[in-house]
Amino acid sequence: MSELLAALSRRLGGIAFGGDYNPEQWGREVWLEDVALMKKAGVNLVTVGVFAWASLEPTPGEFTFEWLDDVLNLLHENGISVDLATPTMAPPVWLSHGHPEVLPIREDGYPFGFGNRLHYDPASPRYREAAARIAGAIAERYAGHPAVAMWHVSNEYGPTSWGGASADAFRAWLQKRYGTLDALNDAWYTRFWGQRYTAWEQVSPPEIPRTWSNATRRLDFKRFASDVLLECFQLERDIIRRHSDLPITTNFMRFYKNADYWAWAPELDAVSLDIYPNPGEPDSRVAAALNFDLMRSLKDGPWILMEQAASSVSQWQVNNVKRPGMMRAGSYQAVAHGADTVLFFQWRASRGGHERFHSAMLPHSGTGARSWQEIEALGNELGRVAEVTGSTSAADVALVFDWSAWWGLMDTHGLPRNDWDYATLATQWYRPLLESHVAVDLAGFASDLSRYRVVVVPNAYLVTEAFAERLAAFAEAGGTVVIGMFSGVVNEDNEVMQPAYPGAFRSLIGAYVDEYWPAREGESFTVRLASGAAAAADWWQDSMTLESGSALAVYEGGLLDGRPAVVENRYGAGRVVYLGTRLEASAFAALIDGVVADAGVAPVVADAPAAVEATLRSKGGVDYLFLINHSEADAARVGLPRDGVDLLTGSPVSGSLSLAPLGVAVVRCG
Ligand code: GAL
Repeated sequence: MSELLAALSRRLGGIAFGGDYNPEQWGREVWLEDVALMKKAGVNLVTVGVFAWASLEPTPGEFTFEWLDDVLNLLHENGISVDLATPTMAPPVWLSHGHPEVLPIREDGYPFGFGNRLHYDPASPRYREAAARIAGAIAERYAGHPAVAMWHVSNEYGPTSWGGASADAFRAWLQKRYGTLDALNDAWYTRFWGQRYTAWEQVSPPEIPRTWSNATRRLDFKRFASDVLLECFQLERDIIRRHSDLPITTNFMRFYKNADYWAWAPELDAVSLDIYPNPGEPDSRVAAALNFDLMRSLKDGPWILMEQAASSVSQWQVNNVKRPGMMRAGSYQAVAHGADTVLFFQWRASRGGHERFHSAMLPHSGTGARSWQEIEALGNELGRVAEVTGSTSAADVALVFDWSAWWGLMDTHGLPRNDWDYATLATQWYRPLLESHVAVDLAGFASDLSRYRVVVVPNAYLVTEAFAERLAAFAEAGGTVVIGMFSGVVNEDNEVMQPAYPGAFRSLIGAYVDEYWPAREGESFTVRLASGAAAAADWWQDSMTLESGSALAVYEGGLLDGRPAVVENRYGAGRVVYLGTRLEASAFAALIDGVVADAGVAPVVADAPAAVEATLRSKGGVDYLFLINHSEADAARVGLPRDGVDLLTGSPVSGSLSLAPLGVAVVRCG
């Protein structure tokens, strides 16, 4: 666990509670009210300055820090710590107006305009120079300020530029990756469609193609786009580090495809996440839990919930509110999965601007509002669970979630079907584990798998050789592996591996696929499971032949009648299960649950409804059992594996406990 994050928790005396604070939108009399209300609500950390570049540097090189001095002093005098941001997500108009080359170029060749945010080409030397100047000035001025507790570099790194400086940087990136043009031509398989390059200056980002662009060129551009953004973070981080030893982070996003967070995480002192599950779809809590487990796994320890909504957002067609109790349940859900903070966007609702209807801790309707009262109550309750900070979780199951696999499956086109949604697929595989209360870590291709009993791979269409070897070694040594359809097909260069298919996993799964059969529109299949039960399947069929494996399910009827739909293979001391189709949810859940149980993995609680989330965090020999009932309508009874004390009520609990709809318990066991 990051010592720096532990020090932050010690400084704050427990869970950090607060959010983005944008005082530049208000006058001083409002700031005075803000700090008074923050104290009332138990706020101990606010993120300041995220969008303040134009207010801090109104003309190039002329800084107006006085107002920020005042704000930081005021916060410090009132015992509120600051997560100080560099404002480089929203460059001022003088930069884009004076130097239009800083604007990102869209895929169609046109630049994005000014007037939103993220309007910068991450490779632009002019942007980087200006970003370095403001970040340096802020770090130098405030590194010693007693309010500052951590650093927040920029915000939600995200833009991709298809032209300008990014095009040059892409070529340089390729030169570094391949060394020679011949190596690039080989990797990109440019003999196909006569795409051979004869000079580096001919190579460019993948433009909008007449028909289809080169699949490996597209893949490399995704890799580059993540790396070039990371360079921006590193640039500012290194500048801040020269002035301060405090933790430095930047906020990640839910299922964000354009930045490989496995590559980014080691560069951050602490991982942070912004998450906005749609309260209109209560089921969105499943994907939220997966994202939380991903954040915990990225650095194998506590992380920072940097932003969430107090109630509704303003980004969808219909923006539903978080009904009473949902904000609290969602906040504890993050803590249950390892967050040591509960932070929001934003403290006070803006009166204008695009997000004027995005909820805030302090809404337009003030302290009489229902949502404020819930915020105030939560802020004053979190002290009861202060002792959980720094605790960690262990899992026997790893779910593989890797950006290369994601990009290969979704960004390169030309596959037997091209409507995959990698994140949805991962969520579908994660759901039965969550609902059976099995602890799950996320793993990337480069992660160490040896500490797990079970590794599930929802999809790895594209694999690295090293990952394929590691997975085989894991099985060989006695591990259980579950792999989803259309995995192990191509290598890192997006070239079909031999012997096909799936070249990377053929001996592992003990079967080969002679053809991939995407389902016709509306088509479904019947499979007969080893138990004798029938189940429906759809979406996809592998036309599969057994080698060393045996069938766990076979198709019944149809063109593949009697052929394997799910195979099982003994591999070394281990077991491998491969699904060549998409089973209906209940059959899929039963299969996953069975495989996990066969591998000797115990759930966190054995006796709880699926709507209850159960996780364990541990520290210094003490276990904390988190129970969250996500049902809005039904109370839930949970059989407790051990007796303990519910930290939220202070009461001893034993045998079982009952959770109200959206109710939460945090049981210190022992
Ligand atoms: C985040 C962003 C915030 C705010 C919030 C609500 O993605 O970092 O600045 O826009 O969403 O929409």
